[in-house]
Amino acid sequence: MEVFDYLTPYLLDWSNLVVRWLHVITGIAWIGASFYFVWLDNTIRPPAAGSELAKKGVSGELWAVHGGGFYNPQKYLVAPSELPKELHWFKWEAYSTWLSGFALLTIVYYFNAQAMMIDQSVADLTSLQAVGIGLASLVIGWTVYDLLCRSKLGQHDLAFGVVMFAFLVASAWGLNHFLSGRAAYIHVGAMIGTIMVANVLMLIIPGQRKMVAAMAAGGKPDPIHGLRAKQRSVHNNYFTLPVVFIMISNHYAMTYRHQHAWAVLAAIMAAGVLIRHFFNLRHRGRIEWRYPLAGVAILIALAVAIAPRPPAATTAVAADDPVARFVKIQAIISQRCTVCHADKPTQPGFAAAPAGIELQSGALIHQNAAKIYQQAVQTKAMPLANLTQMTDAERAQIAAWYESGAK
Ligand code: HEC
Repeated sequence: MEVFDYLTPYLLDWSNLVVRWLHVITGIAWIGASFYFVWLDNTIRPPAAGSELAKKGVSGELWAVHGGGFYNPQKYLVAPSELPKELHWFKWEAYSTWLSGFALLTIVYYFNAQAMMIDQSVADLTSLQAVGIGLASLVIGWTVYDLLCRSKLGQHDLAFGVVMFAFLVASAWGLNHFLSGRAAYIHVGAMIGTIMVANVLMLIIPGQRKMVAAMAAGGKPDPIHGLRAKQRSVHNNYFTLPVVFIMISNHYAMTYRHQHAWAVLAAIMAAGVLIRHFFNLRHRGRIEWRYPLAGVAILIALAVAIAPRPPAATTAVAADDPVARFVKIQAIISQRCTVCHADKPTQPGFAAAPAGIELQSGALIHQNAAKIYQQAVQTKAMPLANLTQMTDAERAQIAAWYESGAK
């Protein structure tokens, strides 16, 4: 039992490694296949009227060369006259991305809610409450989205897009009032990912099943299934860039730790959608630079807006004896950081120094001075969720030390 106790964080690290690896691979397979089919759909051209292909019911085709072979995909309007013997379905890419993603969410966030999800300065929650809020957000996200799709609004692409975007931003805003910044972000991402996979599971695949069943019974499939699936698949396409950003957002404390983190996320998601729109149009032969330019303009404006303010002039402390001052700095770090950032962390749930940053000696503190300043002063991302309750006065002391040369 003893052995198992102290090995638990280490085993969690390994499951984190394996599951994250899997999640990235399945995600690539899914989004890659999805990008390919969107490209295909937008790039195929109708065959000449009266040609053999047109007679067969082909509505579009193209030629491509890849990996040393020539390919000639053909798309049938509704369906071919006869059901092919072997039909490839694309669904496990999506399902396995969600399953591995949910497992990762559990390993990283739900097993360590105290450190990863709760920020006392945001809301004083129990682990159970934090996990409950996280899980509820996934269910609410899908329910609202699905209802919106089925309502009249679902018929109007642009209006639907605007309302859905507003709903996601509102969710980010709401989650920001309960969870730590990074947990709020990852749950908006998990909401979007859940919607995307549920679209595949609940609409796209069942629709395709009905089409195939109708054909197997010798009838003609109802085109409504194809149209419904298409709507969901277009939505999924616009979700891709935002969701991929959110999945890597935890590396960027300047975004999720911002005072208005939800607004920062809104700007980045909008940029992603605009850039995706450019590619969708381009495949159809329309080059409209205003979309990616608007996306890039948003990112630049955001970078300017959230830039750290120049340090306030350091006066009184500058006269301090540097040696005496460093003793104080080291004391702060030892108290607030080394429970996690040491060769042997004492914080439950940590098997090794997170991000490889160890701060247990003066030399290590000097070596990491710039990073300490960035994380503890500029973004206040550290201590993680301020678990060790670092005070503003201590942050000011670190600021003064670093800004006068980090001696
Ligand atoms: C509760 C545990 C914990 C405490 C306490 C803590 N950290 Fe961290 N720290 C982490 C984790 C977890 C990461 C990895 C974050 C990630 O994956 O983005 C990290 C990452 C970092 C990084 C690397 C960031 C990067 O993206 O390169 C620095 C620097 C850092 N912490 C500094 C500090 C400082 C300075 C303190 C004290 C003021 C501190 N940490 C306190 C858990 C902690």
